[in-house]
Amino acid sequence: MDISQLQLDSDGKLRHFLSIDGLNRQILTDILDRADSFLDITHRINKTVDLLQGRTVINLFFEASTRTRTTFELAEKRLSADIINLNIATSATNKGESLLDTIRNLQAMQCDMFVIRHGMSGASQFIAQHVAPHVAVVNGGDGWHAHPSQAMLDMYTIRHHKKNFEPLRVAIVGDVMHSRVARSQIHALNMLGVHEVRVIGPKTLMPTDIEKMGVTVFHKIEQGLKDVDVVIMLRLQNERMQGAFIPNQAEFYHTYGLTAERFTLAAPDAIVMHPGPINRGVEIESTVADSKHSVILEQVNLGIAVRMAILAMTIRTSGEASR
Ligand code: CP
Repeated sequence: MDISQLQLDSDGKLRHFLSIDGLNRQILTDILDRADSFLDITHRINKTVDLLQGRTVINLFFEASTRTRTTFELAEKRLSADIINLNIATSATNKGESLLDTIRNLQAMQCDMFVIRHGMSGASQFIAQHVAPHVAVVNGGDGWHAHPSQAMLDMYTIRHHKKNFEPLRVAIVGDVMHSRVARSQIHALNMLGVHEVRVIGPKTLMPTDIEKMGVTVFHKIEQGLKDVDVVIMLRLQNERMQGAFIPNQAEFYHTYGLTAERFTLAAPDAIVMHPGPINRGVEIESTVADSKHSVILEQVNLGIAVRMAILAMTIRTSGEASR
């Protein structure tokens, strides 16, 4: 099934949240606006609302995660959902049970939503095609393919600081090839109408035909950073590299690392972003990561409100489906 048909119901509302590709500007804007309404709640002493009371969310993380897993769990708690964090290491998937059989068994326990991170591209889409009509699937990152909730919290952070997307020049720097975050960000930035999306990195870490995604490619960081409003640094995804894509990390830092000196090429009020985890001295200099221009930890914080919005918008639609 087409990813748009899978993600949106007949009224154009979110059914599953799997990929930015296949959504539209209105849905993205709705998520950002809904996050605004939740941001106030996250600043209160009592941070909970009962929107998901009585609903069960199962977090299935087949890959390591600190930020996505924790902020989804916080978002679920703040919406008063019942939460299960399946411990994959001690689950029956280690006894040869297939992914689909695991899902069918968990679904038999009457859950309403799965938040899934998986190393295989397309895993969340595959699961969404097989769940019951009342169950929603949220992608917490799948292989090289997509990390849509990260892209949305990044868009929210950009809007928080820059207000309008239209005039912005945004540079995404580093290992674009292996980055599901970069793919989702590029779709979201273009859908929201930014002036220019630049990708900067060595040819070996740049996907073939990346220009077709609506980006300008730079292989020299000094050229790519010139006058940009937002710099998004990426981690070297060593766990996804099979073979040598760069001579070594020191050489990568020498050629593509965001140093304080290079950052002066960006617009004077530019912000620095990074999905995390950051590797200091590999893709970013500590003084830049910790500078007043850095919004890296703010991204994490704002991610809670954005994930509350995604959960609320997805589960409501699914809850209206057959029960
Ligand atoms: N940005 C991100 O996905 O971080 P985690 O791997 O820690 O979830």
